Amino acid sequence: MQTIFVTGGAGFIGSHVVERLLARGDQVVVYDNFTTGLPSNVPEKAVVVEGDIRDKESIEEAVVRHQPDGIIHLAAQSKVGPSLERPEEDLEVNILGTVHLLEAARKNNSSHFVSASSAAVYGHSETLPITESSDTEPLSPYGTSKLAAEQYIQSYARLYPIRTVGLRFANVYGPRQTMETEAGVITIFCETLLAGKQPSIQGDGEQTRDFVYVEDVAEAVIESLNNESVQGIFNVSSETETSINELLLELSRTAGREFAPVYGPPRAGDIRHSFLSYKRLHKETGWSPEVSLTEGLEKTMEYYKQK
Ligand SMILES: NC(=O)c1ccc[n+]([C@@H]2O[C@H](COP(=O)([O-])OP(=O)(O)OC[C@H]3O[C@@H](n4cnc5c(N)ncnc54)[C@H](O)[C@@H]3O)[C@@H](O)[C@H]2O)c1
Repeated sequence: MQTIFVTGGAGFIGSHVVERLLARGDQVVVYDNFTTGLPSNVPEKAVVVEGDIRDKESIEEAVVRHQPDGIIHLAAQSKVGPSLERPEEDLEVNILGTVHLLEAARKNNSSHFVSASSAAVYGHSETLPITESSDTEPLSPYGTSKLAAEQYIQSYARLYPIRTVGLRFANVYGPRQTMETEAGVITIFCETLLAGKQPSIQGDGEQTRDFVYVEDVAEAVIESLNNESVQGIFNVSSETETSINELLLELSRTAGREFAPVYGPPRAGDIRHSFLSYKRLHKETGWSPEVSLTEGLEKTMEYYKQK
């Protein structure tokens, strides 16, 4: 049995990671300040420490007290809107918070550190699918903060005996997602369709995204923690391009009704097409996503029906 320390474990992706860790018999410590995460997302078996990663003393004290074998870092300010309004908050939570955690890991001799990054580090990419060696030109302070955090975790791996992994998630979706996060469009569509309302699409709906189911992402996180040969930066994606129109059609089928969307003006600065290759992670770990979009959307819709 290992002790795994999970920041952001009360959040959308974190809660799925925590469930999987507990299911395989690990002891789990969740460190979260509950800004977007919910206490009800955390299974009873996990130890909960309420704290903020911006607070250096609090995070160091928690790591020293629980002596984790591995650290999974998912806590972040991950909403693009607030990132544009208050870029200093991304800097503090996503960069400074990561440095605080790295320092805590170093002082505690924790040797495995897996951290969430994002496809937002790439910005517009001419060549698809996007690979880990594609240009990184983030279009938001959020993407910039994630890129800087990646640099920190990699420099700690060069400086100290700590294996660090940065996982660049595509658009993650599934149960427990909040509306404002990166693949929030699926949550919004589910709730709109279930309320019998007309969904609205920004732009012509032909923009494409790479949607990856949360359980597959949780598995990629745990595989990266387990597998001692994995180090560096990896995409976690479905490697499939899906347009917003296709997505709505699929969800309408799942809901058993047809919905005609209202089309509005495109969102300023929106990327037109995006999908990511996961071949690098597959080569290192054998990981590949197992849940198809149809299956994942059915599970997600079912969750919102029960809510
Ligand atoms: N959801 C996606 O599509 C997506 C895509 C790419 C990357 N990511 C990254 O994955 C990670 C998890 O994202 P998510 O979608 O689960 O978001 P989320 O908002 O559901 O989870 C983040 C968690 O971190 C906690 N948190 C936030 N600030 C904190 C702080 N200062 N101190 C302690 N805890 C704090 C929140 O309360 C929440 O429980 C984030 O790092 C995010 O940037 C998510």
